[in-house]
Amino acid sequence: MRMHQTNIRETTLDGQRAIVTGANSGIGEAIAKGLAEAGATVVVNYVTDDENAQRVVDEICATGSRAFAIKADVSSEEQVQAMFQSAISELGSIDIVVNNAGLQQDAPFHEMTLAQWRKVIDVNLTGQFLCARAAVREFLRRGLMPQLSCSLGKIICLSSVHDLIPWAGHANYAASKGGVAMLMKTMAQELAMKKIRVNAISPGAIKTPINTSAWATAQAEAALLKLIPYYRVGETRDIARAAVWLASDHSDYVTGATLYVDGGMTLYPEFREGG
Ligand code: BGC
Repeated sequence: MRMHQTNIRETTLDGQRAIVTGANSGIGEAIAKGLAEAGATVVVNYVTDDENAQRVVDEICATGSRAFAIKADVSSEEQVQAMFQSAISELGSIDIVVNNAGLQQDAPFHEMTLAQWRKVIDVNLTGQFLCARAAVREFLRRGLMPQLSCSLGKIICLSSVHDLIPWAGHANYAASKGGVAMLMKTMAQELAMKKIRVNAISPGAIKTPINTSAWATAQAEAALLKLIPYYRVGETRDIARAAVWLASDHSDYVTGATLYVDGGMTLYPEFREGG
């Protein structure tokens, strides 16, 4: 029984099976690689760009871990069901789901179209609901495997500092992440008695394709750094490390928590010299 006895030195995810959504680039790619490095077999979910999904799979396999890609739009109930079915028939079950897939469609509030609003809510919030529900159904079907983990399953929701910080010009995105925060906590409260852990990571500014314009030029980076007390823009590995910890038994007593991995962005840095 692994119960409460995980040695801090030991490799943490051996034998476990993970799905990471939106894993063909950015934070999702880094999390997929991090989980694989920690011993898990990883399903690299993606919706566009087959080539990059295959590249991530190849890079993981080149390190001796096992991975494969499954194309599915997380906002489609049928596609999410089909993805879980094929992952489970290939791997036997799923132990870890990382709800990472997300996008931005920015617009000034009065110009935001219903299509922009819906797209962001569908992918960022409904997508997390559909994948988490499929995961919970599988965890309950499979039952506890104490040789693999002391919990029945782990769900990690990628949120954002904008589940806390309002963000002008991004009403759809901020609303979706505020929704993720309460979805996560409610799932955690409801599922804890079944030994399912649900947590969130809220990244700050991390260098990925979603926000290239915020850090790619020296001028943009200087403006961004004013918002980051730790004074560096985040790297995707910063988030991957947090995800590996939340997926492992090292965090067995943690559920319903949001880990802000943001270099202090949520510390109101503008108040260092004001107020
Ligand atoms: C957004 C990024 C942004 C960061 C900090 C993230 O959730 O996706 O575009 O740079 O928050 O504002």
